[in-house]
Amino acid sequence: MSDTDRDYDLVLWGATGFTGRLVAEHLADRYGDGALDWALAGRDANRLAAVRDSVTDRIDHGDADDADGDAMDGTTGDGDDNATVPDLLTGDAHDRASLDALAERTAVVCSTVGPYARHGSPLVAACVDAGTDYCDLSGELQWIRRMVDEHHDRARERGVRVVHACGFDSVPGDLGTLLLQSHAAETFGAPCSAVRALVSVRGGGFSGGTLASMVETAAAADRDRAVRRVLANPYALAPEGERGGPDTGPQRGVRRDPETREWTAPFVMAAINEPVVRRSNALLGYPWGREFGYRESLAVGRGVGGAAVAGALAAGQGLAAGALDVPPIRRALDRFVLPDSGEGPDRDAVEGGSFEMRLFGRGASADHPAGYAVEATVAGDRDPGYGSTSRMVAEAAVCLARGETDTPIEGGVSTPASGIGLPLVDRLEGAGVSFEVSAREGAER
Ligand SMILES: NC(=O)c1ccc[n+]([C@@H]2O[C@H](COP(=O)([O-])OP(=O)(O)OC[C@H]3O[C@@H](n4cnc5c(N)ncnc54)[C@H](OP(=O)(O)O)[C@@H]3O)[C@@H](O)[C@H]2O)c1
Repeated sequence: MSDTDRDYDLVLWGATGFTGRLVAEHLADRYGDGALDWALAGRDANRLAAVRDSVTDRIDHGDADDADGDAMDGTTGDGDDNATVPDLLTGDAHDRASLDALAERTAVVCSTVGPYARHGSPLVAACVDAGTDYCDLSGELQWIRRMVDEHHDRARERGVRVVHACGFDSVPGDLGTLLLQSHAAETFGAPCSAVRALVSVRGGGFSGGTLASMVETAAAADRDRAVRRVLANPYALAPEGERGGPDTGPQRGVRRDPETREWTAPFVMAAINEPVVRRSNALLGYPWGREFGYRESLAVGRGVGGAAVAGALAAGQGLAAGALDVPPIRRALDRFVLPDSGEGPDRDAVEGGSFEMRLFGRGASADHPAGYAVEATVAGDRDPGYGSTSRMVAEAAVCLARGETDTPIEGGVSTPASGIGLPLVDRLEGAGVSFEVSAREGAER
C-alpha cells in the first residue's frame, strides 16, 4: 500500500543502531539524490543528528543543521538541488502514540530496532492500524509467528504488507528459491519438488543487537512451552491447519552433499530461513506443491579437511546453543561478554566479507520424465550479516515505497518472496547482491 499523500516514502526506524546506520548509508548512497523522501527515526534526537551528519557527508550536501528534528523541507541548497537530507523523527518503541504518529506520516516503515520480541510488536500494530507498509530484519521465529497470529488477517483485509526477515535471514534463501522455481516453471512447465541450499560465508561477525536477539529467543523458549513448540515445528509459519509437510527441520550433524561432495554442517540461520520459505510457498498458494521440500546447510569443503571443519562447526554450534539454554550462562553472556547495542564487526570485516548461497532444485514431470535440474546462486560482496543485510532491507523498503511488488497477495504478514517477490531481485541486482539461475534437462550431473 504505497500512499503518496504521506510526508515520506520511507522512515528508517532504528537509524542509530549498528545495522540502522548501514541502512541509512545505503539509502543515502543510492537514493540521496532526491529519489526518495525519507526520514531517520529513533529515540534520541542527538544521536539521530549525528547519523544524519555522516549520511549527509556521503551525499556531499552538508546542510544537516536541524538536529532537533523540527520542520525542514528536507532539500539542501548547495550542490545538487534535488538531493534530500532526511528529516529526523523521534519516538519510543514502547510509546504507542509516538509510533502511531510516525506510521501515519509515511508510506513505509523500515525497522532495525531489535530484539523484535522485546521492542517490535507495538510498531507492527501501529503500521497495520495506519495502513502503512512495514519491513524489518527479524529472524526471531517465535515473534514472527506472534505477528502472524495477531495481525495477518487484518493486514490482509487492509492491504498492508508486513514483510519480516528482509536481511540475510531470509532474503537469499527465500528469493533464491522464488527465482529458481519461477525459472523451473518457465523452462519445464513445473516447479522443482525439492530445493536444497548450500551457504558459504566469509568475514563478518555478530553485532550486539543480533546476539541480544539470540539470547532473547533462548530466554523465551526457556520461559514458555508454547514458544518451544513453535521453534520445534518446521512449518510454524504456515497458516493454521497447514502446519505439516515432508520436511523434518534443519540439518543436524555433519553430512556430505550428494552432488557437490562437499562436507556440510548445520547452518544456524536455517532455523528461521526454512520456515520462511515454507510460508512463502503457502502464501503464494503452493505453486511449488504441498510436498515441496527445502533445506539449508553450511558448505565447508571437500576431503578430510572439510570433514574435520564441518565436525568442529557442528560441535561448536551444539555447544553454543546448549550454553544459551542455561539461564545463568545466558545472563552472564548478556551482561559481561556480548558486545553492547550499537557495536558490531569493524568496517574492514563488513566491507571485506562476502557470502554465496547455491540452491539446487530437482524435479520431473510428464513432459520431462528423465527429470530436470535448476540451480540458482545468490552472492554478496560484503559480509552477509551487516554489509549485505543493510542493502537487502533498504531495497525491500524501497520496493514497498514504490509499490514494486509482484505477488498474488495484496497484504498480510508475509515474507520477502510472498510480500514483494521478484522486483526485489531486480533492485538488489543493482545494489551489490547478485542472482543467477540456470537449468538443464536430466536430474543427473
Ligand atoms: N536478519 C538479519 O540478517 C539481521 C542482520 C543484522 C541484524 N539483525 C537484527 O536487527 C536488529 C538490530 O540489530 P543491531 O545490531 O543493529 O542492533 P543495535 O545496534 O543494538 O540497534 C538497536 C536499535 O534499536 C534502538 N532501540 C532500542 N530500544 C529502543 C526503544 N525503546 N525505542 C526506540 N529505539 C530503540 C536503538 O536505539 P539507541 O541507539 O537509541 O539505543 C538502536 O537504534 C536485531 O534484532 C538483529 O537481530 C538481523
